[in-house]
Formats: sequence, C-alpha cells, structure tokens
Amino acid sequence: MNREDFPVLKQDIVYFDNGATTLKPQCVIDKMVDYYSNYTSNIHRGEYSLALRTNKEYDEVRTIVKKFIGALKEEEIVFTKGSTEALNMIVFGYFKNVLKEGDEVLLNKGEHASNVLPWFILQKTIKIKIKNVELDDNYELNVDNIKKEINERTKVIALSQISNVVGDIRDVYSIGKLCKDNNIYFVVDASQAVSHVEVDVVKNNIDFLAFSGHKMMGPTGVGVLYGKYDLLCNMEPLEYGGGMNQSFESDGSYELKTPPTKFEAGTPPIAEVIGLGEAIKYIEKIGVNKIHEHELKLKKYLVQELEKIDNVILYNKNSESGIVIFNLDHVFSQDTAVYLNHYKICIRAGNHCTKMLKDDLKIKNTCRVSMYLYNTKEDVDKLIEALRKSKDIFNIIL
Ligand code: ALA
Repeated sequence: MNREDFPVLKQDIVYFDNGATTLKPQCVIDKMVDYYSNYTSNIHRGEYSLALRTNKEYDEVRTIVKKFIGALKEEEIVFTKGSTEALNMIVFGYFKNVLKEGDEVLLNKGEHASNVLPWFILQKTIKIKIKNVELDDNYELNVDNIKKEINERTKVIALSQISNVVGDIRDVYSIGKLCKDNNIYFVVDASQAVSHVEVDVVKNNIDFLAFSGHKMMGPTGVGVLYGKYDLLCNMEPLEYGGGMNQSFESDGSYELKTPPTKFEAGTPPIAEVIGLGEAIKYIEKIGVNKIHEHELKLKKYLVQELEKIDNVILYNKNSESGIVIFNLDHVFSQDTAVYLNHYKICIRAGNHCTKMLKDDLKIKNTCRVSMYLYNTKEDVDKLIEALRKSKDIFNIIL
C-alpha cells in the first residue's frame, strides 16, 4: 500500500522493523524541509510573520492530535521527545506524588522497559508494590487475569495497548471499564498501537497515554503525553525553564503556566511536531482500520508459510497485530538477522527491551518481523524463501 510515497523503499530492501521505527513518507519529509527552508523561527516568542506562521503550524498539531486520539481538549496534549519521556513524566511528575507505601501497580512481563523501569524506581524509593499479571498460554494479557490481581490496594494498571514483542492487542475498553469501576488509574503506552489500531482515550477511560511520532511515520524526537486535564493540573513538570513559567521574582517566588505549556520548557522540537501533524494527516487519509486489516492479512500469510518450514519455532501465531516472533531451531536470533541482512531483509533480533518476557517464553532472544502498510505479499515471500534456504546453510555450520 502507498509504497511510492516512501523514498527509502526505492532501495532494494524488505523493511520489516516497523516496531522499532517506521519509514517516513515524502510529505512528512517535505513538511519539515519547508519549515527549515522557508519559515524557521521559534514559537510563542516572536511578533513577526515567520514566527506567527510557526505558532500556527505548531499549535494546529495539538488539535490534530486531540482529534486523532479522541481527547476532549487541546490542553490535554503535551509534546514530549517520545514515549519514554512521556512515561517518565507520568510516573515521576504525577504518581511519585500521589502513591503511598504499599499501593499496588499492576504491570505484566510483556511490558517494554519504558513502562517498567520508572515503576521499579518508585518501588525502591516510595515502596509501592509492583505485581505482574500472569500472561496466558499464548503469552498474552487477558482481562480475567487482571481481575484476579485487583484488590483495594490496587491504584494503577499500566500496560501497552499492543505489546511490542508478542503483539497481542489488549482489550483496553474492558480494562478501562474495570479501572473506572474500581477507582484505579489507567496508564496506556500506545507506542505500538497508535496508527495500527484505533486509540481513543475517552472511550477507553484512559487517564494517561504515551506514544512516539517515529513509530507512526513521523519524525524521531517527538512524542505525545496525553493526560486528563485535572490530572495534568496536579502533575509536576520535570523540567523548568523558559516558556513554561508565568513569572518569577528575585525573592525566589514563581508561578507556572497551566497545562500543557508548563510541561514544555525551552524550545520544543518544532520541526518534529509539525512533521508529526503531517504524519497524522497521512494516516487519517488511509484510515487505521485499513492499515490494521492489511497487516493482519500479511501476518496470517506469513504464519501460514512459516509453519511449513520445519526448523522455524513460532511464538505468537495467534496475536492479532502485524508482529511475528520466531527463531530458527538452534540458531541465535542475531545470527538469523545477520543472515537475513544478506538478502536485504531488515528485521529486529534480541529481547526487544522487554526483558521480563524471557521468564515465560523460556528464551531470551527472538527474531521479530513487524509489518506496516507498505509491506507486501512479495516481501513475505522473500523472507520465506530466505528462511527456507537457511536450513542448508545453518546445517553446514551447526
Ligand atoms: N521499542 C522499540 C522496539 O520495540 C524500539 O523495537
């Protein structure tokens, strides 16, 4: 789908590492080049025409993001440098101040480091208790297992809407309802979900949400933190400086601006925010449902073909996103990735920053194929062909 829009695809490659980062369409690149070439200026500080144009372009993106994730107001959208920064801001700017010793946070072993390590720090410093909800036999997170862990001390459920390794799509609607009924905060890492499936913060009763621009055809260096407005009002910034303060005096008194401005200290990633807006417009023109349908069709085809190769071990054939994890029997996953690079096939191999999953998977590293809209059946056929040939080659080595 739309392959001609992606300049990187002019090369003879198969790009299957979309979980790590996605390729950028020409319109996103052009939009950023336009800012740099024609109206470079800072935001919210200048009265001249270039600066006024920059203000308009930048501020419009907040409205675009608001609509894209179903938020109620622009003020609930904070620009960050990515999901990692957003999740750290949520944990250290909000939960560090509201959670108490013994309060329980529900995570699971399929979470990415960015949604685990900040909570570990709170476990160490303010002695919250982290509980990992058990994954099912397919390494997926289901609502029944979450229900089993909820008690009166449960204060937060934090999870990714789509896990970055198993690729299971979590039932955020039911989990959000569970949170509402039990007075639990709901924190969602939408890094792998946004632009693959619908993300709706109000419908799913999400209190805080994080995602990165570069995993949705936007630039690197920009992401979004969504928070319900009253929660953002009670959240502390982690960075202080220009732009976010209302006033400060020589006696040390100061007043901060209201959200989202109080969380955007200094010069923000202006070109990147403007590029992100363009990426969202591009996605909306296609439609996330269409993207998801395409990925799932390719995933099913890939699984069907992988199952015909007897030295392939598949770990997540049932999950409903475009992510497939596998290994070749007795072959280290990084060796498989190096081998596939020989055929100009780009995949990711390793633990994918999801280091607790090995307890369940019983293996540390896997090969991950993560699909996106521009992947094709021919891409899958090239991968299958290379993996078929791998048996002879690895048999000689092993
Ligand atoms: N979080 C990214 C991934 O899953 C980098 O590959």
